[in-house]
Amino acid sequence: MMHTKLVLLLAMVTITVHLAMVACDPIGGTVFSEESCHQTGMLVFYRIKLVTSWSKKLFPKHYPEFRPPPHWSMTLGQTHNDSFQLFQLKHSASMPVATFAETGQAAPLEESLAVQQGVLFDEFRLPKIRKGKGESEATFFVDGKHSSVSFMTKIIPSPDWFIGLDSFNLCSRGRWLEKVTIPLNPLDAGSSSGLTFTSPKWPTNPRGVVEQITARYPLHFASSFFYPEIKHLPPIAHVTFTKMKEYSNHNNVHKKVKKLKYKQRTKLLKKIKQQSTSGETDVMNNTANEILSDKDCQVSTWSAWSPCSKTCGLGKRNRTRNVLQVQRLGGVECPPLVETQWCGSASQCSVIDSYFRW
Ligand SMILES: *[C@@H]1O[C@H](CO)[C@@H](O)[C@H](O)[C@H]1NC(C)=O
Ligand SMILES: *[C@@H]1O[C@H](CO)[C@@H](O)[C@H](O)[C@H]1NC(C)=O
Ligand SMILES: *[C@@H]1O[C@H](CO)[C@@H](O)[C@H](O)[C@H]1NC(C)=O
Repeated sequence: MMHTKLVLLLAMVTITVHLAMVACDPIGGTVFSEESCHQTGMLVFYRIKLVTSWSKKLFPKHYPEFRPPPHWSMTLGQTHNDSFQLFQLKHSASMPVATFAETGQAAPLEESLAVQQGVLFDEFRLPKIRKGKGESEATFFVDGKHSSVSFMTKIIPSPDWFIGLDSFNLCSRGRWLEKVTIPLNPLDAGSSSGLTFTSPKWPTNPRGVVEQITARYPLHFASSFFYPEIKHLPPIAHVTFTKMKEYSNHNNVHKKVKKLKYKQRTKLLKKIKQQSTSGETDVMNNTANEILSDKDCQVSTWSAWSPCSKTCGLGKRNRTRNVLQVQRLGGVECPPLVETQWCGSASQCSVIDSYFRW
């Protein structure tokens, strides 16, 4: 009897909790509102790992044996909100994206990204993979307002082929994905004609759209990926996103961020400072300094400026600060301890002084 009551009670509690957590999503379906990704102050740290499988066994046709051997450019990626798109299937690629796909040069793309502050949150680079088969990884942050990730990697050699992801949302139904692996197929940026890995390049005029390359597309026997005997190309790579840490206000973001590694921490600090100057995050702003850990160098405030080195003409003056705590292994290194400034001016020289001193 006692037992039955308990079970019933538990069942009721479960239902109540469930009802409380489920809220209506205006677009349809339900989301778990209590764990919604979009709370303010939410910050999530992910690892991206790219594993490529371009081998002669999987892709025997035209497999480049000689110079250049099969490899992959560095990967350029970013996290962003819905107002940004790196590329889009069936749409023409932007100039910087096409350039990267054709040449592997990232500079134009980086420049075009630099002017899109606000829509972008974090940027990351994965080192080159120097063989057809290999792996590479990096880490990045997303937050409640910027939950999508995009990236691209050039296939080398190739006319303008690449692999990548366009706006993959790491927040799914109100929750941050724990771990997700996505197969990748080659894409054609549509800016350079050429059917094979090593065929000479000439611009496609007018520029085509970004297309997925399949065993049937381009529908041409000479195409390096044209395999009429199979239905689907095997994925040429896989990308895995793994959630490393999730910070929210009530989880005490700052204490936890202290445990991050030096590079991650300095990157985050920079981000927070940027945002607080643009008045975005009040939650994180207060405490950029609190993020510094006990391993980091800490310095005093600046001393007053020293007197000018010259009473006549242009001189220099210094101010200094002291190390309060030396940097320890893995900590942030000390900022400059001396600052120098020009001081004085020619107009301060009295004629008598400069003439008769000697
Ligand atoms: C993305 O961020 C920018 C800058 O903060 C903002 O103007 C834009 O409305 C955002 N887009 C979406 C879809 O939220
Ligand atoms: C961030 O902090 C600085 C000083 O600590 C302050 O001047 C600024 O107003 C703060 N910004 C916001 C958005 O709270
Ligand atoms: C400024 O500091 C440098 C050493 O960093 C020192 O040589 C120089 O004399 C200082 N100048 C003044 C005006 O204190």
